[in-house]
Amino acid sequence: MRILAIETSCDETAIAILERKKNSFRILSSVVSSQVKIHAKWGGVVPMLAKREHIKNLPLVLNRALKQAKLGNYKLQNTNSKQIPKIDLIAVVNGPGLEPALWTGINFAGELAAKWNKPLIPINHLEGHLYSVFLQKNGEFSISNFQFPIIALLVSGGHTQIVLVKGFLKYKILGETRDDAAGEAFDKVAKMLGLGYPGGPEISRLAEKRRKQILKTIGVGALFERSKKKGISGFQNFVSEAQNFQFPRPMINSKDYDFSFSGLKTAVLYKTKELKKLTPKIKEEICYEFQQAVIDVLISKTIRAAKEYKAKTVILAGGVSANKELRRQIEKEVKKNIPHSTFLVPYSSFTGDNAAMMALAAYFRWSKEKKPAKDLKADGNLKLA
Ligand code: KG4
Ligand code: ZN
Repeated sequence: MRILAIETSCDETAIAILERKKNSFRILSSVVSSQVKIHAKWGGVVPMLAKREHIKNLPLVLNRALKQAKLGNYKLQNTNSKQIPKIDLIAVVNGPGLEPALWTGINFAGELAAKWNKPLIPINHLEGHLYSVFLQKNGEFSISNFQFPIIALLVSGGHTQIVLVKGFLKYKILGETRDDAAGEAFDKVAKMLGLGYPGGPEISRLAEKRRKQILKTIGVGALFERSKKKGISGFQNFVSEAQNFQFPRPMINSKDYDFSFSGLKTAVLYKTKELKKLTPKIKEEICYEFQQAVIDVLISKTIRAAKEYKAKTVILAGGVSANKELRRQIEKEVKKNIPHSTFLVPYSSFTGDNAAMMALAAYFRWSKEKKPAKDLKADGNLKLA
């Protein structure tokens, strides 16, 4: 069986082809055409520009994906049935995301499904991120190394959610952000500091410089002793104690699993105003402290949920899961607090938006439901269900 998946929910035009032969799965091709450079000029994604670019890129990306998968050199205008590639199912992301962008994928997928006479199913973007942890580096995947229940922390530019996964396609959202998503906060803070878009990678790069500098100056042991004496608790990592200033950890002690990052963003804004001059060193310090504040809240709530629901597997996924410090610290805390669980995170090639993870999600949905869609609609706020 071969599945062709299409993703256009934000600023990446992506198409991938997944093949299943008996019990072996392979990603035959995964093409991502990024519009980041176009949106960077505006400091964020402009929906109408994204729509225009998706429309332009989709036929080109399809061609590359088919070629890479050795399924021929297909031209959309071909009507000759012999030219129809050997695909059994088409899947397209219908939300959540930017609706003008989502519609381009849906319309394109609908056109292909009609032309090739193939079934078409919708995929939830977040479900794709969840499945990204099962993709191996070489495009194969295995799903043997985990058990339910899963607690998943999904962190992207548009979402921050803690999801309880009780079984395949059985989701319960335990909590989510009440305002900005974690990735969005990274992007907005980066903008305040005059760093590029997207902000996540730049902030983590500067934060890493600061971390190395602290370790070099004070040393791990001394820092650890100091933090112990001061009684710093929870997940506030000993390195962050070296800061001259601190940002809040919003909602870290609230009883629910919700998040709020807009107050943290405002705290950074006030600090930048107060400091007046933002030297490169000060920017590094702000990035470091801001990043640690986000990490502390994300980890604290995820561990609490994993304990409460007796998680056997903990997953970190979504664009923000590219953050090396978040990966390192959450893995450490999962091992310490839930020692018999498995921790899964996507390979860095699958943290950002791609269609390979969508194809995998499509496979599981199709295996369970086999329900082709009739009238697909974009839903910017689509929930995991
Ligand atoms: O999942 P994704 O690629 O797109 C959406 O579905 O939104 O996530 C993009 C988000 C952006 O906000 C970007 O700044 C953030 O992921 N991101 C990071 C890092 N790399 C990307 N955030 C923190 N640290 C990173 N290294
Ligand atoms: Zn995403």
